Amino acid sequence: MRIAAIVLCGSIVVVLAGCAKSASGGDDASLNESEAHAHFAARYYAGDVARGQVIFETNCSTCHGSGGRSGGVGPSLVDESERQDLSRTIVWIENPDPPMPKLFPSPLSERDVADVAAFVQQIK
Ligand code: HEC
Repeated sequence: MRIAAIVLCGSIVVVLAGCAKSASGGDDASLNESEAHAHFAARYYAGDVARGQVIFETNCSTCHGSGGRSGGVGPSLVDESERQDLSRTIVWIENPDPPMPKLFPSPLSERDVADVAAFVQQIK
């Protein structure tokens, strides 16, 4: 059941990303595939902040500091929501510029990225 739901969800994302690409005039028409995908993810799944925090401490805090507040190798993520919104944050985590490592699709799943992005968005 769970596997069926994941497969179904995956195909809906693909279909919608396809629609977004072929739509004319709308905002989504200017997005590339990974952006359209993140746009969809951000709009329909808000992300679990508490789960995202655990993922952050395990995978991100070595470079961004505990809670993303102090930085180190990477910048502090305080007020990240003022620099980029949830869907941009998802796009970035899925396809970062070096030296930030690409942690998607492994070890982070799509849901992990959405959750950790939701956590990052609320760092003040
Ligand atoms: C090996 C160190 C490293 C790890 C691990 C890492 N990052 Fe980064 N991150 C960076 C660096 C360096 C930058 C700045 C890259 C640039 O500006 O080109 C960055 C930039 C970012 C930014 C954009 C900040 C901004 O406003 O410019 C976000 C958001 C971010 N990281 C989130 C995360 C998340 C979430 C994780 C864990 C899933 C993570 N990072 C793991 C090093 C890291």
